[in-house]
Amino acid sequence: MDVMICPTAEDVGRRASARVAEAAWDVGPDVVLGVATGSSPLSTYRHLAQRVRAGELDLSHAWAFALDEYVGLPPGHAQSYASVIRLTVTDPLWLDPTRVFTPDGSADDLAAAAARYEEDIRRAGGIDVQVLGLGSNGHIGFNEPGSPLDSRTRLMRLTEQTRKDNSRFFGSLEEVPTYCLTQGLGTIREARRLVLVAHGTQKAAAVAALVEGPVTVECPASVLKLHPAVSVIVDESAASRLSGSRRRPANGTTAVPVA
Ligand code: F6R
Repeated sequence: MDVMICPTAEDVGRRASARVAEAAWDVGPDVVLGVATGSSPLSTYRHLAQRVRAGELDLSHAWAFALDEYVGLPPGHAQSYASVIRLTVTDPLWLDPTRVFTPDGSADDLAAAAARYEEDIRRAGGIDVQVLGLGSNGHIGFNEPGSPLDSRTRLMRLTEQTRKDNSRFFGSLEEVPTYCLTQGLGTIREARRLVLVAHGTQKAAAVAALVEGPVTVECPASVLKLHPAVSVIVDESAASRLSGSRRRPANGTTAVPVA
């Protein structure tokens, strides 16, 4: 696992976009992207969009799969991840909307929708590079603490912490859905490369648990330690609870090898 500590959140996005672009160049035009929602990856997507507009990167034949989707929001709701992905990923990266997928959180049969999503990912050839955010409780996707390390796409109940964290996107806490469909930890681990981004002190404890703690279902992100190609890219605030030997003063980006 490579851990990079960057001076600012903007630098996190620049570094992460470079990792995603490298994967896209290596794989070719029909690269399969895995995309997270939330605040953390927004600067990554902005930097990727700059590369697309500059003609450095062509994603017009790429595929993209979201990590998760709320259950119970009406189709087209501004906070549904289908809408958020369209606004922050599909349009700015000039993706073909027919090649962009989110789990169907309004399906009558959610278990069947979850199985279909796994099948869609498989048919696209699997995810080449997965962008991940990190919950303040250590979740990735919406795999809350306690999620099995080999779990697949499924219905998940959000913790109160996650609902509170995400209430900033809604009018009130009551409006935040209680359930979601999320790729499982086993699904995420099958992506060929993983790029996790985090910034802000509210992520510091989760970053320390991920980088320095044991692999445990209590910190779902710790499963990344079992993956051979992971970049963890964080700003100084998110790195502030790493032990002194790993945390370096911040003149430029610090690359920290982690056993
Ligand atoms: C959302 C997702 C979540 C978020 C995490 C961090 O698709 O996968 O794991 O990445 O909750 O959210 P932010 O970035 O808003 O703090």
